[in-house]
This record gives sequence, structure tokens and C-alpha cells, in this order.
Amino acid sequence: MTATVTDTIALDAQHVLQTYRRAPVVFDTGRGCSLYTREGRRYVDLISGIGVAALGHAHAKLAQALGEQASALIHTSNLFHHPLQAELAARLASLSGLPRAFFCNSGAEAVEAALKFARRYWGAQGQPQRTGYVALTHSLHGRTMGALSVTWYEHYRAPFGPLVPGVTFVEAGDAAALRAAVTPNTAAIIVEPIQGEGGVRPLSRDFAAAISATCRATGTLLICDEVQCGLGRTGRPFYSAVLGLEPDLMALGKALGAGVPIGAALFSDRVAAAAQFGDHGSTYGGNLLACRAALIFLSELIDGGVIAHVVDAGRRMEAGLRAIAARQPAIKDVRGAGLMWGIELDRPAAGVVQAALELGLLVNRTSDTVVRLLPAYIITEREIDEALPLLERAIASAVEAPRS
Ligand SMILES: Cc1ncc(COP(=O)(O)O)c(C=O)c1O
Repeated sequence: MTATVTDTIALDAQHVLQTYRRAPVVFDTGRGCSLYTREGRRYVDLISGIGVAALGHAHAKLAQALGEQASALIHTSNLFHHPLQAELAARLASLSGLPRAFFCNSGAEAVEAALKFARRYWGAQGQPQRTGYVALTHSLHGRTMGALSVTWYEHYRAPFGPLVPGVTFVEAGDAAALRAAVTPNTAAIIVEPIQGEGGVRPLSRDFAAAISATCRATGTLLICDEVQCGLGRTGRPFYSAVLGLEPDLMALGKALGAGVPIGAALFSDRVAAAAQFGDHGSTYGGNLLACRAALIFLSELIDGGVIAHVVDAGRRMEAGLRAIAARQPAIKDVRGAGLMWGIELDRPAAGVVQAALELGLLVNRTSDTVVRLLPAYIITEREIDEALPLLERAIASAVEAPRS
């Protein structure tokens, strides 16, 4: 417990698989939108563990419920029933309109389940040749083999081929290309309603309409990956609904457990009807601790009014970001909704992330030139008003620094 920052970083370098380029900061505690190092330095957190700690850090109700749950029962496996999983599935059904859930432990696993059951559906319809997927350029759906196969970024894919065959990528917004890509062998189209890693790019309503029309005309299933943009992040339960999309399958993760790992794939009746006992499984999936966290999160989100707060806080954040963009010519675009924002620069965003870190502000870079903000849903007006001037200073200082 007395390891120094240097000890921790050295031990990581020695024993942790080196797949993350971490900032050299070690956090010990948090509260709300603040994170603290052992030395007591405070950082304003606008990234919330990449959109996960939606209720903020050390949320009192969540902490108490998890303590109680850990003292009662954490895990029994899916060999048996427990009271929380079905309750969570019912809650997600009423929120999404998709009546059945499969629980897993991450966003990638939720995508994986959706990809598998899209095929399972067509197999059950006597059309086992429908195994292909159409995905979008700039997509990221996760790092497992299936999810990686529908992820566009070559640097994530290339070291691990061959991937799942039969995936066609289409430029987001290109309706003609989408229609051409869907063939009699396509099982599903998979989209993020707002592309997260792709630079916080919402799909256009016209393109969403083209997706819906293509699915209707060909019977192709629609998978909406709401792992990053769903569950209230945009001030609406699901951004697919904002775009008028009606998915047959949905992937959820990130905010669902407010920090406790849990993912879920949601299914329409017609897809769920194809599932047979033994088709899919997860040892941990939907255990009591994870479900308790998700139930607390959803209760705070909907019954506790957090989603309404996201709308208000989002408006304040958007107004602040647009004002900064008007003053900072290096900003080319500000995109997003609710508390999911991307600030596109005319240069790589890494310098801003670094400058922000030095100022005590946590933001992150995505799609090379985009600064991404995914703060906790409970961020206060005061915290927004504290964070945005720091962000502007970080942008200004990165712009003044010579380009690398
Ligand atoms: C849209 C989307 N889908 C899936 C994933 C994968 O989620 P996880 O990292 O929990 O596996 C991510 C992760 O960033 C994501 O943004």
C-alpha cells in the first residue's frame, strides 16, 4: 500500500502486458468528477474512465449498495437464478423496447453476442448463408475477434488477422454504398448511432433513414452499438431512437454498471425466438454484484432524474464549447449531444490532452485530431465552469507550442 508512483509505474512496465500507453499518473481516490493522486493532487475528470463512471466516483448510494451486496452474495453463476438479473432485464426492456437481454462483462462481449445471434436468427429461418455483416468506416465495436472484425481501424485489425470473413465496410452517410453492400448473404448491419472512437460523429438522420429502408427492403437485421452513446449519455436513453432507428439487437456496456463491469445484448422477440438452451453463455455474465450496480445506475438515471440533468448540463457544456470554438481558430468542429462531445482540431489532439493533464484536467484524444469529453452524468454547473476554461487554456497552449 505504500508503493510510490515510480514503483507502481516500474512494476507495471515489468509485469503488465504493455498494450496501453498510460499517462504517468496514479490515482487512488475519487469523488464526483474529481480524481486524486496519493500526493493529493486533484484532477477534474471529463472522461470518467471512458464513459463508464456515469454516476461519478465514489457515489454514496452505489458504494453502499455494492457493500451490502458483497456482504450478501456476489456470484452464483448462471446455473441458478438470482433475483437481480431478471429485474435488470425487465428494466432494460422497458427502456429500450427490446424485450430480452443476455448479460456479459464488457461492450465487446455484448457486440459479440449480437453478431452471433444475428447469424443464429438466419440459421433458424433456414437461410444459413446469411452470415455477412455490413459495418461503417470509422467504427470501433471492440477488441474480441468478432467485434474486431466489424471494427474499421486497420491498426487494431492488422496484427490479428485473419478475422471473421464476410464483413463489408461502407462510408457513413453513403446510402447508395450501403444498399449495394447488403447482399442475400448479409445477416446484419451494425452501426454506432454516434461513432465514439471515430471522432464523436453522429450518423445523419438521412443516413439513418437509408439504413432503416435497407433493412426493411432486405430483411437484414440492424444491430445498434449503444455501448458508448447509449444509456442516457446523450440526454436520451438511446441515440438510435433519436435517429429513428429501430434495432433488432442492441449492444450495451460502459455506463451500465457505473464502473462495475457489465455488458448486455438486447434482442427483439423475433431474434430471441431463435435462441436455444446452450447457444451462448458467460460464467460471470449478469452476476449479483454487476446487476446490483446496473439497477442502482438505472434507478438514479430514470427515477432519480439524472437523465434530465444530463440534458441541462449538456446544454451548458455545448454552449461553453461553442464559445471556445468561436475564440480558438484551431477548432474545426464541435460535435456531439448531451455529455458526449468531440472537439475536432486542425492538428493532432495529443498536445491538448497533455497540456490539459498538466493543468489538472482529464480529457482524451480519439481519431487523432479530436479531443473527446465523456464526463460523469452528475457533473455540476460549477464543475463545467471550472473545466472549460482549463480546456481552453490547454487548447491555446498546445496551439502556441511548435507542431510536432
Ligand atoms: C461503441 C463501442 N462499442 C464497443 C466497445 C467495446 O467495449 P469494451 O471496451 O467494454 O469491450 C467500445 C469501447 O470503447 C465502444 O466505444
